[in-house]
Amino acid sequence: MSERRVLVIGGTGTIGSAVVRELSTDHHVEVAGRSSDPAVDLSDSTSIDRLADRLADGPIHEAVVVCAGGGMPGMVEDLDPSAALEALRPKLFGQIAVARAAPRFVRPGGAVVLTSGILERRPMPGMSHLSMINAALRAFALSAGTEQRTVRTCVVSPGLVRESPQAVLDFFSGMDTVAAADLAKVYRRLIESGRDGETIGLPEA
Ligand SMILES: NC(=O)c1ccc[n+]([C@@H]2O[C@H](COP(=O)([O-])OP(=O)(O)OC[C@H]3O[C@@H](n4cnc5c(N)ncnc54)[C@H](OP(=O)(O)O)[C@@H]3O)[C@@H](O)[C@H]2O)c1
Repeated sequence: MSERRVLVIGGTGTIGSAVVRELSTDHHVEVAGRSSDPAVDLSDSTSIDRLADRLADGPIHEAVVVCAGGGMPGMVEDLDPSAALEALRPKLFGQIAVARAAPRFVRPGGAVVLTSGILERRPMPGMSHLSMINAALRAFALSAGTEQRTVRTCVVSPGLVRESPQAVLDFFSGMDTVAAADLAKVYRRLIESGRDGETIGLPEA
């Protein structure tokens, strides 16, 4: 087994399991989520800190990937401001908290690869909250990339993943689709390429 360690938060999900498959050929992959041991909940920054502290005591990691999160669908008129604020927590602030904690367990020059989504560039009615989160993640990575941190920060912005559950495919019906295995190669490219601050979309435009 390779000593190149990668942590995949959300590694049991539709995208995350494809990323785990892709990286497992030549990395030692660890998976974390709300039901792993130790558990991590992106909504709870103390659980992220706890996990980072625990990993800091072990072997250094090549990268941390996050394939988890969500948002709040709803037409603009129906978005309750306090619920909308709370719903920013896992996908936006949770991923930012992971990026912030990463230097404790990721090697200098290693990567933090976050996940946004195509709604940041292809809007749909009733998806403004998700579009906003996804666009904020692009801006966050771009900005973090200017700070010359010890770790690089990049984002993958997926289209609708073909292997998603039927309910998800129906919900986002009409959106361009992408195969999970092709998407997983984008995560690999960002880990291995040395890029910083970039968001790569698949499909690109
Ligand atoms: N599927 C798509 O077509 C698609 C397209 C564009 C963007 N995305 C984005 O890609 C990300 C992953 O999507 P997916 O479809 O692969 O999701 P998914 O199949 O629902 O899987 C989510 C994964 O994240 C973990 N998770 C969920 N909430 C978490 C939390 N609060 N803290 C830590 N881990 C958590 C889950 O495990 P536990 O339940 O054990 O925690 C699971 O491993 C999401 O941000 C989604 O918005 C998805």
